Amino acid sequence: MRKLIIANWKMHYGPVKAGAWIRAFRRERLPKEIDIGVAVPHTSLAAARSSLGRAGVPLLGAQNSFWEKEGPYTGETSPTMLAEFGVEFCLVGHSERRTHLGETDEMVAKKAVALQKAGIQPVICVGESEEAHKNGEAEKVIKAQMKAALAQGVKATGSAPLVVAYEPIWAIGTRKPCSPQNAREMHEVIREVIAKKFSKKVAQDVRILYGGSIDERTVAEYLSTTGIDGVLIGGASLDPRVFGLLCRSAAPA
Ligand code: 13P
Repeated sequence: MRKLIIANWKMHYGPVKAGAWIRAFRRERLPKEIDIGVAVPHTSLAAARSSLGRAGVPLLGAQNSFWEKEGPYTGETSPTMLAEFGVEFCLVGHSERRTHLGETDEMVAKKAVALQKAGIQPVICVGESEEAHKNGEAEKVIKAQMKAALAQGVKATGSAPLVVAYEPIWAIGTRKPCSPQNAREMHEVIREVIAKKFSKKVAQDVRILYGGSIDERTVAEYLSTTGIDGVLIGGASLDPRVFGLLCRSAAPA
């Protein structure tokens, strides 16, 4: 399975800076054996696409989508609109959206299905709070989030296959990453839920990423851990040279 590294800029970079980032990043020497994507704010999709041209690297992603195609949903953006920019993947249910925008498991599941219908790969984000982590409830929380995320008909495979990102909230932006061993255990929990819903074989083919305080120094250790099929990068993706270095550090020597 090819590893996948995704940059999540979060709410950074309007069109001008986004274009500059893409152009700078494309000057980086990048490993061919790894898939690389960048999730940009909606307002920067056009600029990112135009700086990218039709080039396949990095893959262009969005950070959120609505589930309906069109209609009276002020302020929302549909998967078909995202597809017009050539968006190839879209984050769904990032913990920051769950926390600040009240996104629920049900919304996450609906968004993932709608994205696939538009040919866009959903990257469903799950992760437990610090409190749940401390109380030993991480597994329970993740199982529940995963079951709910798969409950509305999302497909595991196909032309826009499902990706899952495990991002424990306590590890995001804290410089305190979840250990590779701990992440591996949680990825096994996620894979079990996928296996129960689909099959063991299918579960082996779904890429599960880890996200939370990963940088260019730590990425290789995570990617060489069994069951970690990629990483989702916040802070360390904001500088295109640092992110380029991170991508190179990820590739096996
Ligand atoms: P950091 O890499 O800044 O911890 O953010 C992780 C994240 O939330 C990516 O989606």
